[in-house]
Amino acid sequence: MQRQPLVIANWKMNGSRLLTSQLAAALREQAALLNDVAVVVCPPAVLLPNWQQEVFYDAVHLGAQDANEHAAGAHTGEHSLQLLSEAGADYVLVGHSERRQYYGDSSARVQAKVDAVLAHAGQKLKVVLCVGEQEHERDNGETVKVIEGQLATALANVSAAQLAHVVIAYEPVWAIGTGKTASPQQAQEVHAFIRNWLQQQYAAAAETVPLLYGGSVKADSAPALFAETDIDGGLIGGASLEPDAFLAICRAAQ
Ligand code: G3P
Repeated sequence: MQRQPLVIANWKMNGSRLLTSQLAAALREQAALLNDVAVVVCPPAVLLPNWQQEVFYDAVHLGAQDANEHAAGAHTGEHSLQLLSEAGADYVLVGHSERRQYYGDSSARVQAKVDAVLAHAGQKLKVVLCVGEQEHERDNGETVKVIEGQLATALANVSAAQLAHVVIAYEPVWAIGTGKTASPQQAQEVHAFIRNWLQQQYAAAAETVPLLYGGSVKADSAPALFAETDIDGGLIGGASLEPDAFLAICRAAQ
């Protein structure tokens, strides 16, 4: 099945109003060259309204880097799905390794957040579930076991019908922000496992789920990664802060 290529920018705790204007202008200028790839930008939540003003056409969607699983209430500093959606977010990253490692997103909490995104009013939102192994887990030959555990827990309550609102991003933790990109073969191996696992759990519905690779993707490494059978695009950190590099990666995904 041919899935539309998808490239997501994860700005993390970076960017500015100026960079918002610069990247949005670059995306507008190249919109005609990006017909065959879906582009999503996940800025820090406080910049979503600025992005909302800049991207007024369908080629670029917006996303949040995380969300609280509760509808509203006494959760100081957190962001609800309702507020993120009103600020323009159509996608929500859940379970990013930095959230898991530094901000207490246990597997149970990741599951709760996945369920909350998919249950959100009108099911307008899509969840981007991030999975990935630590370097020592790969060195110990535990990659598949770790990924399978993350998938099984996060998607335990997700039905085949809901898969239309699910994206999965494989981000080996040892490749994030390190400059050490997984080789296309390493990435394809894990993506093929994820696709096969989804097929076993969900049969034909599994084919609709885009599988993105993330971890030091750059303009020069993107073409070989995206050429792999089960890699449908990328989740881009550092390179998404450089408009020329990010646009080159988007073009490589087509
Ligand atoms: O979510 C994407 C991010 O984790 C990858 O970061 O800087 O290695 O592209 P980077």
